[in-house]
Amino acid sequence: MDRRKFLQKSIYATCGLATASILIESCGKSNNSSPSVAAAPTVNFTLDISTSPYNALQTNGNFVYSNNVIIARDNSGNFVALYDICPHAGCTVQFNGTNMFPCPCHGSVFNESGAVVSGPAPSGLKKYNTQLTGNQLHVWG
Ligand code: FES
Repeated sequence: MDRRKFLQKSIYATCGLATASILIESCGKSNNSSPSVAAAPTVNFTLDISTSPYNALQTNGNFVYSNNVIIARDNSGNFVALYDICPHAGCTVQFNGTNMFPCPCHGSVFNESGAVVSGPAPSGLKKYNTQLTGNQLHVWG
């Protein structure tokens, strides 16, 4: 083998290894089915449910968003506050008007405890504390 052919083969081999390395790395990333979703924050805020838009919470079955928290009033009149970002791929969860929190993107459903009822979400939603005093709804945790 002459010097020219040896160099050509060396270059091809090096390019092949680099390409294989990139493919392996990208495949490893694609096997991770969920992009990283931000961890649920610690919150501490109060909503006045006598003023818009939070007055929606005076009626059972409604919900609002504040500080990345979905606050719902279930069909029994209880307040439920959950982190509003789905751990599957980061979509914003909704409330079904009774007692479940569906994700509109791929069908995950969470109950009032934030637990996964059906996937593909790999984990549940953080649940926050709520306390109503007069028209002031305190949300924390
Ligand atoms: S983002 Fe996929 S189920 Fe919620």
